[in-house]
Amino acid sequence: MQKKVFRFSHSSVDYYFAGGISQIKEILASVKTIFVTDENVFAAHEKQFRNKTVIVLKAGEEHKNQSTVDSVVKQLIEMEADRKTVLVGVGGGVVTDITGYVASIYMRGISFGFVPTSLLAMVDASIGGKNGIDIGVYKNMVGIIRQPSFLLFDPSLLQTLPDDEWRNGFAEIIKHASIKDAAMFKELEQNDLSFYQKKKKDLGVLIRRNALLKTKVVQQDEFEKGDRKLLNFGHTLGHAVETQFDIPHGQAVSLGMVFASKLSQKVVRFKDAPRLTKLLDQYMLPTFLNLEEEIKSRVIDVLKMDKKKTKDSINFILLEKIGRAFIKEISVQQLYENL
Ligand SMILES: NC(=O)c1ccc[n+]([C@@H]2O[C@H](COP(=O)([O-])OP(=O)(O)OC[C@H]3O[C@@H](n4cnc5c(N)ncnc54)[C@H](O)[C@@H]3O)[C@@H](O)[C@H]2O)c1
Ligand SMILES: [Zn+2]
Repeated sequence: MQKKVFRFSHSSVDYYFAGGISQIKEILASVKTIFVTDENVFAAHEKQFRNKTVIVLKAGEEHKNQSTVDSVVKQLIEMEADRKTVLVGVGGGVVTDITGYVASIYMRGISFGFVPTSLLAMVDASIGGKNGIDIGVYKNMVGIIRQPSFLLFDPSLLQTLPDDEWRNGFAEIIKHASIKDAAMFKELEQNDLSFYQKKKKDLGVLIRRNALLKTKVVQQDEFEKGDRKLLNFGHTLGHAVETQFDIPHGQAVSLGMVFASKLSQKVVRFKDAPRLTKLLDQYMLPTFLNLEEEIKSRVIDVLKMDKKKTKDSINFILLEKIGRAFIKEISVQQLYENL
């Protein structure tokens, strides 16, 4: 199997860009392996889990919490998982976040690997070692940065992914293009969702390009002191909106990116806000947010609680031009006025 090794500060991660779940036994040889997945992925790919030890979680963001963590830990104890056991998360970002987090705290840390099954997890959530859970309305409030030992990318798993989830994945791809890759932005403008759903080769290339883009950003700034923060483009407002309206992550990020691009227009005369809105629209992502006063203040409250807050201002990611982002402190008052 084709393998690429990437170095991070404390460890290295093996990336396999071709292969399926069945090849995990080649990667892990005789190591005791426990798979973690969710009910949807399990139902859609049952055959692949045959004769394997599997923990099946309930699907959905609302289960990315401490009670799921407790339940997984209890099952690991029952299964007599020890320090040499490897946990393999097979699923979307919820599964990979929970698997990485549990593996990092179980017996003070065991090895883990991921087989991302959603587009969003392939291009984003599985990469970079951030693993965490939500506490009530506060997303990813508790967690750890610890790298998996391997990542296995198998785009054929996406054949069973619902359309809505494809759109969520494209929100992160458009985010990457906006902050770091103007050429990819242009390529995305020339195509659309159904193009990538049909053209397996182009999809494979796009996934790899995005996985490598995120990897490079993380390698240069694993502990988010600088450039890694740019990956939060669209996410500051996005997270607040996601919680308030209970909409999927990608859709919330889309609205967050539209907001940030309009703010960029005001702050640094960013010219391409309409181009970004058009592209999001082309990938069937929402671009229009109309908030009533009461909801605005609730959104601002959640924003203030966001991890990125300092005093009465928030570090916001803005665009100078397509492919170039920067961080700017924006006052809560200014955010409120622009909502
Ligand atoms: N750790 C990070 O750096 C990072 C980065 C981005 C996002 N995230 C997290 O990732 C989560 C979002 O990830 P997501 O969009 O993958 O959500 P998800 O894990 O909830 O998956 C979305 C839905 O698709 C289903 N699904 C996944 N793969 C499938 C397949 N191949 N066939 C059929 N159904 C499938 C899931 O069961 C679920 O219902 C959020 O919790 C977010 O905070 C983490
Ligand atoms: Zn995201």
